[in-house]
Amino acid sequence: MSSEAVPHVPIPPRGVDYRNKIVLAPMVRSGELPSRLLALQYGADLVWGPETIDKSMIGTTRRVNDRTGCIEWSRFSSNSGVYIENNKPSIIYRMHPEREGKKLIYQMGTCDPERAVEAARLVAADVAGIDVNAGCPKPFSTDGGMGAALLKTPDKLCAILEALVKNIVPEFGIGISVKIRILANPKDTEALVRRLVRTGIIGLTVHCRTTPMRPRERAIRDQLRMVREICHEAGVACLMNGDVMSRDQALELMAEYGVDGAMIATSAEKNSSCFRSKADGGFAGWSEVVESYLRHAMDVGNKFANTKYLLAQLVPGRHAEQVGMFRGHSYSDVCSSLGYAHLMEQAGEVDEMLELDPASLKRAKEALERQKKQRKAEANEARRLRNVSTNASAAAAGGNMAEARSSEQAPKRSLSERGPSSATSAPAAAAAAATVAAEPVPQQAAGIAA
Ligand SMILES: Cc1cc2nc3c(=O)[nH]c(=O)nc-3n(C[C@H](O)[C@H](O)[C@H](O)COP(=O)(O)O)c2cc1C
Repeated sequence: MSSEAVPHVPIPPRGVDYRNKIVLAPMVRSGELPSRLLALQYGADLVWGPETIDKSMIGTTRRVNDRTGCIEWSRFSSNSGVYIENNKPSIIYRMHPEREGKKLIYQMGTCDPERAVEAARLVAADVAGIDVNAGCPKPFSTDGGMGAALLKTPDKLCAILEALVKNIVPEFGIGISVKIRILANPKDTEALVRRLVRTGIIGLTVHCRTTPMRPRERAIRDQLRMVREICHEAGVACLMNGDVMSRDQALELMAEYGVDGAMIATSAEKNSSCFRSKADGGFAGWSEVVESYLRHAMDVGNKFANTKYLLAQLVPGRHAEQVGMFRGHSYSDVCSSLGYAHLMEQAGEVDEMLELDPASLKRAKEALERQKKQRKAEANEARRLRNVSTNASAAAAGGNMAEARSSEQAPKRSLSERGPSSATSAPAAAAAAATVAAEPVPQQAAGIAA
């Protein structure tokens, strides 16, 4: 069934329709602001922020960071009344209003309708939608009755969604959605989805794995058509999730299963250019992606530890740059180990803004200088070895010529006696020179020259 043929629930005026969208999944740590901007750069249609727990959000203060243009919600961490010198507020959530605001879905971890509404009110004016996480299997989520635990308490999950729909939609004009996992028994999934689509939500994402399934296990798509059918009967958009690797594959799967859109997590975590179709260039090489990521991270002054974590996902294998990169304490160190001289100035500014290791800029500049000198020395050495090899050819050719002369011109004659006979040695000399020139260049020199 095509998405045009089914009824639609109305999309609130400031909200977004999830239909025909290929989106970045919510990912704690991996879905912070620069990762979302990178996904958008490569063509993601919408981006989900990382699950943020209602209790963490409640009590935060919203402020606009003048240097980066970001909106930040921050709070002092609870320290049990212990005075901490220079205690700084921690940023709990941040977003960029111009660069992602109309495409950002805020995902919430909650197990309580009132708290959900209280937390949602803090961000609802700045985002394009609010999603409830009912799929996280990690103990930090399920122990509190959040995430995948909500799949076992459908009354609570429906009460949360209804409270958000009732309070947030009319006041802020954005939609509410939910992300679930499939249940082991399709009948249980069916019963759950039938209830969820009647809460007033505009979208439902189904992660095609059961709660106990590990991320490496293949997604199960047997229940997908059934979930889509129930969503469509109610006019709710249905996104599929689980082992979707790229935009092109997402479009094929959407056609095959009749769902409205697809959500990508781990493939985007490794290389966000998965959102770019083959027709537009397809997957980009890691070095291009890493440089773009670093630019976004520096533009928004991303927390350095998070940037380093993401770089570890984006730089594949044991690249030499990686080794140096992970010893770095600052953006300057990272740019230096990746050889990004053109980004050093910005790196220095960001390090200063984030109060990262002040000696690192100096250290990074020195490291770059050393790299430059080393490259120059290697080029000189390669040139020298090439010359040596050329001279050897010439010398060898000269030597053979002399040999040829000595064998052919046994008695040494005076200049007046020589005459044209010396010309007879020329072909032999040329042949000898050609033989030497055809010999392989010594391995070391060839390597350096290449
Ligand atoms: C690092 C990481 C963090 C995640 N954090 C969240 C989260 O905050 N909220 C959520 O609903 N799912 C979270 N997930 C699950 C993904 O959104 C997604 O459902 C899952 O990885 C399956 O998609 P994939 O097969 O494309 O990876 C996370 C996954 C990863 C790998």
